[in-house]
Amino acid sequence: MYFKHFTVISNVLLAFIFLFGPTNSYSQECYDQYKQFSSKRSVQKLNYQEDQSGSYLWVNDILVTGEEVLYKTEDIIDSLMIEPYHLIKWRANGTRTLSLGEGFSGLVPFLLSQGIEVKGLDLWYHAMDDLPANNNTVRLMREYTRNYGKHLIQGSATDIPIEDNSIDIIMAHQLLNNLDERTSREVINEAIRVIRPIEGHIRLVGLKQHSIDYLQRLQTQGRIDVKFKSVSTNHYRLDGLKVLKNVYVEIKKR
Ligand SMILES: C[S@@+](CC[C@H](N)C(=O)[O-])C[C@H]1O[C@@H](n2cnc3c(N)ncnc32)[C@H](O)[C@@H]1O
Repeated sequence: MYFKHFTVISNVLLAFIFLFGPTNSYSQECYDQYKQFSSKRSVQKLNYQEDQSGSYLWVNDILVTGEEVLYKTEDIIDSLMIEPYHLIKWRANGTRTLSLGEGFSGLVPFLLSQGIEVKGLDLWYHAMDDLPANNNTVRLMREYTRNYGKHLIQGSATDIPIEDNSIDIIMAHQLLNNLDERTSREVINEAIRVIRPIEGHIRLVGLKQHSIDYLQRLQTQGRIDVKFKSVSTNHYRLDGLKVLKNVYVEIKKR
């Protein structure tokens, strides 16, 4: 009798934890780190400019506007060389993925829709109150943080709030091309710190020559293995915005 009651109570308890508890340790870990980060740093500077093709918005002098104005989600998936068989493998293996400089791109929603564990990291998440309300890009940013907040980490890719060697795949689409040499190196070093050695890998698209040189140097030093492939630039409506060196780079830590 007691045993029966105990079983019923413990099942109810388990169901409660399953339904309302943290979805997994990855979510909880990221949420804790976001809370720490958001008290340390915030959006320092905003510029925006409207034209016929949409609103361009810069946070701390870095372009936020990307997808929907310059390219589409399919272009991001193509450029990052994500194939259907990767998705099957990542889902089956419980692969932990991270998108650096995710912005409000469709990459996080796409990977979630495929049942893949993903977090997006960007500078401005959860700092939406600092942004002007009547801007088209800000409207999309607000919508994005509302819909995907629990998968987003407010943070800098130069100081990723995640443990060493803990992520299977890191992706950054059109992040490094927005950064100066020193910051790009910091981002590359951080991605290498966080990625799992040997089995994990980093996929980067949109690099300046100095990042390519730096990666080659790290390869010569024996720290990483790098594969370079060129990516078609046809997708991008550049409109005077420079997207240099559209190469796809895949990096493995030794
Ligand atoms: C051009 S957008 C690209 C966004 C998205 N990956 C895409 O392809 O549409 C560049 C993004 O990088 C973010 N970003 C720039 N510097 C960053 C940093 N140090 N850490 C994290 N995100 C950063 C910007 O806020 C912006 O959202």
